[in-house]
Amino acid sequence: MMRRNILLLLMAVLLVSCVKKDPVEAKIDALLAQMTLDEKIGQMNQLTGMGLSDDMKQQIKDGKVGSILNEVDVNIINNLQRIAVEESRLHIPLIFGRDVIHGYKTIFPIPLGQAASWNPATAEAGARVAAREASSVGIRWTFAPMVDVSRDPRWGRIAESCGEDPYMNAVFGAAMVKGFQGDSLSNTTSIAACAKHFAGYGASESGKDYNTTWIPDVQLRDVYLPPFKAAVDAGAATFMCSFNDINGVPSSGNKYLNRDILRDEWKFDGMLVSDWGSIDQLILHGVSENQKDAALKGIEAGVDMDMMGFVYISHIKSLIEEGKVKESFIDETVRNILRLKFRLGLFDHPYATPDTTAFYKPEALAAAKEAAVESAVLLKNNDILPLVGQYKSIAVVGPMADAALEQFGTWSFDAEPAHAITPLKAITDMYGKQYNIIAEPGLTFSRDSNATGIAKAVAAARKADVVLFFAGEEAILSGEAHCRADLDLPGLQNQFMSALKATGKPVVMVVMAGRPLTIENQIKDASAVLFAFHGGTMAGPALADLIFGKAVPSGKLPVTFPRMVGQIPVYYAHKNTGRPASNIVTIDKIPVGVFQTSLGNTSFHLDAGDKPMYPFGYGLSYSTFEYSKVTLSAKTIEKNQTLTAECTVTNTGKYDAKEVVQFYVRDLVASLARPVRELKGFDKVFLKAGESKTVKFEIDASNLGFWHQDKTYYAEPGEFQVWISKDSQSGEPLNFVLK
Ligand code: BGC
Repeated sequence: MMRRNILLLLMAVLLVSCVKKDPVEAKIDALLAQMTLDEKIGQMNQLTGMGLSDDMKQQIKDGKVGSILNEVDVNIINNLQRIAVEESRLHIPLIFGRDVIHGYKTIFPIPLGQAASWNPATAEAGARVAAREASSVGIRWTFAPMVDVSRDPRWGRIAESCGEDPYMNAVFGAAMVKGFQGDSLSNTTSIAACAKHFAGYGASESGKDYNTTWIPDVQLRDVYLPPFKAAVDAGAATFMCSFNDINGVPSSGNKYLNRDILRDEWKFDGMLVSDWGSIDQLILHGVSENQKDAALKGIEAGVDMDMMGFVYISHIKSLIEEGKVKESFIDETVRNILRLKFRLGLFDHPYATPDTTAFYKPEALAAAKEAAVESAVLLKNNDILPLVGQYKSIAVVGPMADAALEQFGTWSFDAEPAHAITPLKAITDMYGKQYNIIAEPGLTFSRDSNATGIAKAVAAARKADVVLFFAGEEAILSGEAHCRADLDLPGLQNQFMSALKATGKPVVMVVMAGRPLTIENQIKDASAVLFAFHGGTMAGPALADLIFGKAVPSGKLPVTFPRMVGQIPVYYAHKNTGRPASNIVTIDKIPVGVFQTSLGNTSFHLDAGDKPMYPFGYGLSYSTFEYSKVTLSAKTIEKNQTLTAECTVTNTGKYDAKEVVQFYVRDLVASLARPVRELKGFDKVFLKAGESKTVKFEIDASNLGFWHQDKTYYAEPGEFQVWISKDSQSGEPLNFVLK
């Protein structure tokens, strides 16, 4: 017996020694063993660039900095890196980070616009271009993708998200992670992605940035977390905390989010960075008394790197000396940071090779143009678009027609307006010989309140056969901390539109904005409306192609467009309520002096009714599409079976075009009320005029379920409905049963 046990023990020892330790982990072990506590804490410190200041150089030499953000000069980056690699005691390279959100030099449409393409391949291509350009100056870490589900267009950062739906954000976030990180992180053109902001940031109360959120756990897990889980599954190398608190617990001190969910449940082995100063801000949130306590809360919550908060560098050491934090805790943290640096190959290739040809490559510009084409959504068309030959003179008016900087949208720190092609430039270059183009901006910027130019633009409109009105928001009106309570077109643009309408000339309105706007009346006045978001460097050529019919619109809305701000939050995946909207009596129909009754009342607004301006998933084409009846592979499926739904889509119009086919599900009866529809799949199909294709979607218990209050996810047996449809409101449901 004894001999058998010894034999077993020997075999076990042999087995363990044969399983080779991950080489990266072995390197980390070796390095950690040499690091002093100060050097470890230094790795946890991220500073913003200060050029080649003596202070910065000294801090790097002393091993007090792990990462630098916002440094973009390749010579400065290489110089600082040289100090880290050659002059610091352990030669640990720095990692340089930057918000390369939708392009570095070649700017793609804002993420909300990219989501409107419903074509994740365009987002992946965009992230690849961004990675190639940014890595050429030594930036190996971007703070993107932002995968915050947002159902509030007042929130400026909706521009940076992929809209209101968890599945959309998951699919696009994963595509961007793939694009940034490429096939291997260690490739010198790959940059580490950062899924942010973990979590719930998009739910900020009243759409005001940094605001508090109340998110019940089942909603957190059903709506806000799935895109982050998808980012982990796609291999995202880093995560960033959010600024907000959830149910009173700010993310940078949130152990439940950062340790229990991110590390323990999802097994994330990447690096978690705070947001800018967000550990320090635990004091302002009112959950920490002072910086030392904030540092303690941050580290206890598993935040690895302190972005510009200075609390780790100032207080972690004394927290350890006082026995409040174990050094093994710090080792785990530093391990996450070093793992990232090893995975990026920074120890082997710390320097960037300056390459002035890396920017604006023809293929990058082509990809950016394609993304801008695909992200424009045709909201209305009274048979006027595309403009093909029937007009002689075209008035190009509006504050966004020739606004190079504005068409980049938010987060384009490194973009250069001289490289942007505006709609006016593109139209003049491409069609100036064919048509008489009369350009008159009318307003010099979107908020302009000086009406004198409008008269000139109206005079131009009178001389023309058709008017192209480029309206919208300047880039600075959306993005971080740029939230709005009024979602009308800013400045005098509404008056401008009325004046154009009064000329009697057909007006094509093109809206370039960072969010949905409340433009119901302007849409009524326009003959056609193309909603183009902020389309980036190549917005002009893309819009010219769409307007003149070289390209066909194929975008669909990734977010519901409200009629009025008071409807917000308005989103397609709402609950049915016990009194779903019917018998809508609007404010003008209520008799005077009538007595109050609650009988027969349902859920709607007296002034707005129950419908948004446009639902999620909505968008027109120059062509038309017919959907056949949907067929299901079975009427009943078992828990381990897959249901296939299919439908034939036919291009019944005159144009070869792409159509976004959408797949929705509803769980009719469950222990918790479920949304009236949930997106579970989509497919963007190209169909030649007259062509048909069969589109298939599959579903099974693994994605028919939802989170329960006991923190378990499963599908409940019962009846479900499915739709294959053009948008979130249309189509006929089919029922099936999950046993
Ligand atoms: C933003 C982050 C960004 C960081 C660094 C913060 O204010 O919330 O999204 O990555 O700044 O620029």
